[in-house]
Amino acid sequence: MLSLLPLLPLAAAATYPLVDSHKGATFLDGFTVPAGAYDNTTSGDVFWAAKGNSSVMYLNDAGRFILKVDNTSFVPWNEKRYAPSLLTERAYPIGSVFVMDAVHMPYGCSVWPAFWTQGAQWPEGGEIDIMEGVNGQTTNQIALHSHNDGCYASSSAQMTGQLRLDNCSVTSNGGSGCTVGDSDTRSYGEGFAAAGGGVYVAEFAADAIRVWFKSRADVPAAMSGDAATIDTSILGTPTASYPASTCDIAKFFADQILTITITLCGSWAGTQSVLESTCPALIGTNTCYTTYVINDASETYKNAYFELNYINIYSTGVEPSSSNSTASASRSGSSTARTSASPGATGTSGARRALDMPIRFGWAAGVAAALGGALTFVL
Ligand SMILES: *[C@@H]1O[C@H](CO)[C@@H](O)[C@H](O)[C@H]1NC(C)=O
Ligand SMILES: *[C@@H]1O[C@H](CO)[C@@H](O)[C@H](O)[C@H]1NC(C)=O
Ligand SMILES: *[C@@H]1O[C@H](CO)[C@@H](O)[C@H](O)[C@H]1NC(C)=O
Ligand SMILES: *[C@@H]1O[C@H](CO)[C@@H](O)[C@H](O)[C@H]1NC(C)=O
Ligand SMILES: *[C@@H]1O[C@H](CO)[C@@H](O)[C@H](O)[C@H]1NC(C)=O
Repeated sequence: MLSLLPLLPLAAAATYPLVDSHKGATFLDGFTVPAGAYDNTTSGDVFWAAKGNSSVMYLNDAGRFILKVDNTSFVPWNEKRYAPSLLTERAYPIGSVFVMDAVHMPYGCSVWPAFWTQGAQWPEGGEIDIMEGVNGQTTNQIALHSHNDGCYASSSAQMTGQLRLDNCSVTSNGGSGCTVGDSDTRSYGEGFAAAGGGVYVAEFAADAIRVWFKSRADVPAAMSGDAATIDTSILGTPTASYPASTCDIAKFFADQILTITITLCGSWAGTQSVLESTCPALIGTNTCYTTYVINDASETYKNAYFELNYINIYSTGVEPSSSNSTASASRSGSSTARTSASPGATGTSGARRALDMPIRFGWAAGVAAALGGALTFVL
């Protein structure tokens, strides 16, 4: 299958038209969930809630969409807790920009949220971790994962974040990917919420993959859930930038399915040394799971939620969703893009296949060994 449309411009377009908008009462349109499945991808201690399960996904009184960990159920030992995972039905090609505007993101001991993208054939097709972190972490970490060796982060890239690991291969560094750390404590957790949240923007272009974090006070006025286009040139120096000079984007990244997930414990958040680096030491033989996930956890998970203004996808490579007439009408549309794809065609089959794939294989493969006997469940 060709992952690239033949008529895409070679250079990055600075301005991209809106093709999908998730907000308000129709937030869930265009998303699918790994229904009925438990999180077998990060070995997280959650069941994925069904689409529209109003105890963990609903519109709040402020008109924002909530995606949260179940914080009302008493979960007996050997059961998992319900949490949301949403994947876009469509997969988006090079020439796309993913935007999340939130006023609150999940945080707390054992909590592992991520706003990320993945190829439908994972681990082929790569992964872009736009916003991700665990436990009491105070800053965001951005990462790419490539199926094969040959994709690297560049130490000479223009970016405000700190390059931590440069080898993007899923089998390098225990599956960590090539990572860039934001130093802004408003980029994650309590600090994010205290500053009124902000926006994450990821530009998936042929010349680079770039990620920006803008805290609320720094969000450009031109950005909003209703904005018909996004011009990434107004965003300034990216927080993380992975230029094609050291990672051939078209070679390592297929069309990407946007994914938003909250899991608990598992192969990163639940690793004892990781957990204890920002949360209290585990007592006796207790694990992340027995300490946090089970029983009444209303206090533990009172901050384990996204409160979202919108998630928008802008793209020069796919048509606006046919179900979204506003986005269709707002499309500036070149004739090349208009003929390039039938709405939903690639994404629907891609997303279905993705549900069968170990979507966080990088972590699972690389770090699961460190967990050993901590995998509590045999389902
Ligand atoms: C919805 O979430 C609740 C927990 O809040 C859970 O008990 C229930 O089984 C879930 N139902 C589905 C269909 O996901
Ligand atoms: C990057 O990781 C891959 C996979 O583990 C490995 O084969 C390759 O040698 C690494 N590259 C460098 C420069 O170490
Ligand atoms: C559960 O979480 C919601 C936000 O997701 C919060 O408003 C509520 O207060 C929490 N409940 C308890 C009992 O802490
Ligand atoms: C379509 O997009 C518009 C513009 O962002 C949005 O307001 C509307 O809710 C969307 N409608 C559907 C059905 O997704
Ligand atoms: C994860 O669960 C899904 C859905 O039940 C299944 O299709 C898939 O094979 C599982 N993957 C792994 C790695 O166990």
